[in-house]
Amino acid sequence: MKILLTGATGYLGSILSQQLKDQYEFIGLSSRQLDLSQPQLIAPYLKDIEFDVCVHLAALTQTAQCEADPLTTGRVNVEATIELAKICHQRNKRLIFFSTEQVFNSQIGAPFIESTLPRSSTVYGQQKIAAEQYITNHLENYVILRLTWQIGLSSPGCKESPNLVRQVLNAIISDTPTKFTVHEKRGFTYVYHLVIDFPSLLSIPTGIYHFASQNQKNTYECAKWIAQRLQVSTERINQLILPNNDRYADAPRDYRLDNTKSLAFGFHPQDSLADLEQCLKDFGY
Ligand SMILES: NC(=O)c1ccc[n+]([C@@H]2O[C@H](COP(=O)([O-])OP(=O)(O)OC[C@H]3O[C@@H](n4cnc5c(N)ncnc54)[C@H](OP(=O)(O)O)[C@@H]3O)[C@@H](O)[C@H]2O)c1
Repeated sequence: MKILLTGATGYLGSILSQQLKDQYEFIGLSSRQLDLSQPQLIAPYLKDIEFDVCVHLAALTQTAQCEADPLTTGRVNVEATIELAKICHQRNKRLIFFSTEQVFNSQIGAPFIESTLPRSSTVYGQQKIAAEQYITNHLENYVILRLTWQIGLSSPGCKESPNLVRQVLNAIISDTPTKFTVHEKRGFTYVYHLVIDFPSLLSIPTGIYHFASQNQKNTYECAKWIAQRLQVSTERINQLILPNNDRYADAPRDYRLDNTKSLAFGFHPQDSLADLEQCLKDFGY
């Protein structure tokens, strides 16, 4: 099976294409081959490229960049997604689009189920909502996978994207007191679940799915849990892993995703602490 993979050089893209190279033929695209900030280039570029499924990972994911430059980021995150959706529709191919928990960052009522109306106060979240809306309104064959924060560390050929495990490790290794948000609850999901569950994405019914381990703790409590698991002394934890009580104090954020539907379809993410444990173990901690 030929899989067109955008964002192939990003964290998730490099893990998928490396780990699954024997099962699928990946046609990996990075911005060097096709710059998605110029959506008008997409159709001509893909004109002679055949594929069975498009896995669309490419995005400008930094919240601050999206706030500072909504036009450029909107071209990549929304317009390019729409162009790819049109091409998949014309060719009758499945589009697998990677979305985020951030589509709920100003909604209330977590953990959210797939049918909850998304509502976001950030440009990044709003761009993902706009892309999702185009797909759900125009395509018949798609999967929208909403991810929680993915955790994992770099390995040869795969450069981690920013995540909590790295932030805690950095604080400890560099002896730098670091603040973690108290007024935020979100799931953490080990990135390697995606590799295991990838084949299901090709066959599950069209729809939105929450790929999400469940978590009862706030982000600061999770950071402390990681430090404790690393057997850092209580004294050092109290010096280095600090609560950020100001961020989101006015409007606490809880964008945890309910995973009942995903579990029913055989996806594996279940529990964030178990995922953190597995990640630390796999990377030798
Ligand atoms: N990692 C997470 O925790 C997480 C959580 C929720 C959702 N997601 C979603 O999952 C997807 C993959 O995330 P990730 O962590 O792998 O992100 P990443 O490491 O930041 O990778 C992003 C990819 O997008 C590509 N890209 C950016 N601008 C582009 C452009 N103008 N033209 C073509 N390609 C461009 C980059 O290619 P170049 O390197 O060539 O620029 C890179 O391969 C994203 O859609 C993200 O929103 C991720």
